[in-house]
Order: sequence, then C-alpha cells, then structure tokens
Amino acid sequence: MSVLVLGGAGYIGSHAVYQLIDQMSDVVVIDNLQTGHREAVHPSAKFYEGDCRDINFMRMVFKVESIDSVIHFAANSLVGESTEVPLKYFDNNVYGTQVLLQVMQENELKKIIFSSTAATYGEVDSIPITEDMPAIPTSPYGETKLAMEKMMKWCEQAYGIRYVSLRYFNVAGARESGEIGEDHCPETHLVPIILETALGKRPHITIFGNDYDTPDGTCIRDYIHIEDLIHAHLLALDYLDNGGKSDIFNLGSNQGFSVKEMIETARNVTGKEIPVKSGKRRAGDPSILIASSEKAATILNWRPTRTSIEKIIEDAWNWHVNHPNGYNSDVTNK
Ligand code: UFG
Repeated sequence: MSVLVLGGAGYIGSHAVYQLIDQMSDVVVIDNLQTGHREAVHPSAKFYEGDCRDINFMRMVFKVESIDSVIHFAANSLVGESTEVPLKYFDNNVYGTQVLLQVMQENELKKIIFSSTAATYGEVDSIPITEDMPAIPTSPYGETKLAMEKMMKWCEQAYGIRYVSLRYFNVAGARESGEIGEDHCPETHLVPIILETALGKRPHITIFGNDYDTPDGTCIRDYIHIEDLIHAHLLALDYLDNGGKSDIFNLGSNQGFSVKEMIETARNVTGKEIPVKSGKRRAGDPSILIASSEKAATILNWRPTRTSIEKIIEDAWNWHVNHPNGYNSDVTNK
C-alpha cells in the first residue's frame, strides 16, 4: 500500500516524500508542477504530473495505485498574492480539496493529513497561539485553508474520512543531507531572501517595517525546521493508523525571532555582510506570531529536535551554496 503525496514536488511536500521513503514507505506523488520542481521529487517515488482539480486524472491515479492514506500539500500559499487574486486560491485550494475528497470517498479511503497554516488565525489577542483560539483569517489564503479544514470536518461526519490538520508557523531550513531545499519563484520568504542576499544574488534585503510594537521594532515569527515539521506528519499518519480521532495541531517551536535577529544570525552563520534597507510595512503582516505546540507534543508525541535558529539557517545555507540557482542550474528565475 502507498502513501499519496499531493504537491510532492513543492518545498514542503518534497521533504515529506524523502522522509517517507527513508522509513521505507511506498510513495506516489501527484504535482502539477505549477510551483513545484520535477527535480525535487525523490527518484524512488512514483510520479504523476497532473492537477488535483482534474477528477478524471485523479480517478485514474486512484484506480492504478493501491493508496492507503493521503498527505495533501497541493495549494497556492502566498498571503499577499491571495489578496489580489482570491479566486485563484478558492479554485486551486478549495475546489482541489473538494475533488480530492470526492475521489477518496469513491475509493473508500479514510485517512488524510492536511497542510494548514497559522494564517487561519488572523490577528490574535494573546501569544502563544493555541488551537482553541478563534480562527478569523485576514487573507483569502488563510480563508481557503480554513474552508478546506471545514470541508474535511463535514466529510468525516458524512463519509468517515478522518483527518489531521497541521497548522504550520514559519517553515524554513532544508534537508540535512542536502539533496533538496527551498526554491520558490517568486521568492517572498524571509530566510531564502536573506541567503540569496548573502550569496550576492540580491543587492540587499528590505526589512518590511521597523516600527512594530516589538523590542527591536521588526516582526517576530516562530521558525520551525522543515525536517521537524515533516516528522510531525509521519507521527500524524501513525496516529490515524492507530485509530486517532480527527484533530487540528499547531506546529511551531514556541519561540519567536525578529527579522533583525534572523539577519544577524545569518551573518554569523554565513560570514557574509548581508546589506539591509528599511522599507515600509508589508500589508497583512501581524507583528508577532508564536505557536503553542503543546497539543502536538501531548497527543502526537512530537518533539522537535532542530530548534536552534542557527541550525535552521545552516541547513538552508548549505542548500543555497550548493544550488545557487535552485533546482534549475541554467535558469535563475523559472
Ligand atoms: N520579511 C521582510 N523582508 C522580506 C521578506 C520578509 O522583512 O524580504 C519579513 C516579513 O514582513 C515578516 C517576516 O519577514 O515579518 C516573515 O515573512 P515571510 O514572508 O517569510 O513569512 P510570513 O510570516 O509572511 O508567512 C509565512 C508563510 C505563510 C504562513 C505564515 C504563518 O509564508 O504561508 O508564515 O506564520 F501562513
């Protein structure tokens, strides 16, 4: 029996495929390669290029393969872009999940791990954020992820499809053995932008706002190593295999770092200057996001082990130094 990984060519999905194969699982990957990279798919995974909104394609894969459980990463995930083209997000994220659940129901598949986000919470009144806090997203992206969670809740009631939804905070780093890493186009995330600046691919990094109500005026985020994040998915699969009930868990490290602290740490790790400019606030950025991951620790027995920010940046830097143009060595911007 195989695990189906939707979005297995993307940054987070590709790391999940590698860890699943490390633990000897058979893996089937579906990805439309809209934002993912064929080169990121583990050579031992069975790869289907296609779109999860295409029900005939999805039915074909489920017919050909013996799929036992599903991990769903396939979604658009840029907060800013989602405010400009919300329908793209509802179509790809919400409708894509609807088709997936329909095909799962037709095939009597009963287990799904879902890639969700801290963006489901919106502005919060207190830190750290726990799963019982109100979810009032401030972006279409967060809204679509919340809608996908709700769709799964109703599908569980109607069809008995159990789910674990994992709400990620700020995922960073790369596989420790260096084969895969983070390569987005366009790149909007802080850690890769800092490291591209360290490599000289960008003249400077712009800090989006230094007048926030935080100790150094820049936004604070909770960064989590991608390898720890993926480990939680494997534990969640075991949890469902052992009859666990559907639930939602935050995945973070319970600690926050400011943008300035991240840049300073990257200077130490890389030995590079990393020029900085001050810019305006970015629309939609909350000042502080820090997770409580107590629930994942208690119920999934999840213990992140790569919690130092130096380690996260070191592993990301290792990938960047060895892949200065990302997956495609001939083309800087795909
Ligand atoms: N930042 C800069 N300059 C840059 C890029 C980012 O100052 O060039 C700042 C941002 O303003 C923010 C922080 O760095 O304060 C982190 O920004 P990212 O874009 O790396 O990450 P976000 O916190 O905006 O969003 C990420 C994911 C979302 C997810 C969210 C949950 O991209 O999908 O974490 O916390 F919803």
